[in-house]
Amino acid sequence: MDNSAGGAIAQPDTYGRPHLAAVDSRVHELLLRQERQERTTLKLIASENFASSAVLEATGSIFTNKYAEGYPGARYYAGNEIVDELETLAIERLKALFGSEHANVQPYSGSPANQAVYRALLSPRDKVMGLPLPEGGHLTHGWSVNFSGSDYQRVPYRLHEKTQQIDYDHLRETAKRERPKLIWVGGTAYPRIFDYAAMAEIASEVNSYLVADIAHICGLVVAGVHPNPVSHCDVVTSTSHKSIRGPRGGFILSRNEDRYQPLHHPKSKHNLRRVPSSARRTAYEYYRRACRRFAGSSELVLSCLRSADRPQRQGSGPGASGARL
Ligand SMILES: Cc1ncc(COP(=O)(O)O)c(C=O)c1O
Repeated sequence: MDNSAGGAIAQPDTYGRPHLAAVDSRVHELLLRQERQERTTLKLIASENFASSAVLEATGSIFTNKYAEGYPGARYYAGNEIVDELETLAIERLKALFGSEHANVQPYSGSPANQAVYRALLSPRDKVMGLPLPEGGHLTHGWSVNFSGSDYQRVPYRLHEKTQQIDYDHLRETAKRERPKLIWVGGTAYPRIFDYAAMAEIASEVNSYLVADIAHICGLVVAGVHPNPVSHCDVVTSTSHKSIRGPRGGFILSRNEDRYQPLHHPKSKHNLRRVPSSARRTAYEYYRRACRRFAGSSELVLSCLRSADRPQRQGSGPGASGARL
């Protein structure tokens, strides 16, 4: 066990409560090892990020103790006055950041946020259009092994064979033929800009809900280097722990004012603006080292890499094992 924190960590806090190191040295040791691993290895997992100490402090806080079902001012449990203030603060900040009329900050992560959209807008067996997983879409956009593929009828759209970008003509044709009730725009591994205006036009022609999932590109939207979908879509979902380095969680935005506000923290915005060019530089380096890029190039944070000729052993990719720094 690493005792680098010394005796200080074993001292009780100001309320006399013992620290983790004193209560459960095994768990404390695992936390320290995880911290050391993160500091000394590089994991190229696009969904992950490094939360600041302030975010870690806020998420490992006294609010863990509280039950708060319901909404601010309308809870099932007593004693939620401060929780109400906190949830309202988060809602107001998100609304200002994205220019949405409404925000829900309760989803535990991106998949439950998407599930809430299904429950709110659709009935079981309704048709849902999305980009298939192998083409860069997410499991919850209608993939077979997920609830979204088993409880709803999947109508996939696809990438253009040559450009490896969304084939909007094919999408329009399919939407007109299939009349889906909801169309997803967004993905996990699609390194190009989404054309929300084109998607909104198609959705309106076929009277579908248009829902943007910006889990991966949220930080780029906030920084103004990717269009904001809020004014084009009925609903927008996201995670808060990927490109905006927030706490592990999800949120849902809905209509609709065409404006956005600067990030609360100007330095974060500056850093986020640099993400596309560093993604391009990283992609180029990998390309140079005999990897083949998917979708030709990267406009966004993502560079999708596939080993040119060798099948990867399970758990042996850069994201799986981590390269030593
Ligand atoms: C586009 C997209 N939506 C939703 C999710 C689900 O987020 P979570 O894993 O936080 O549930 C992901 C996860 O990576 C994602 O890439």
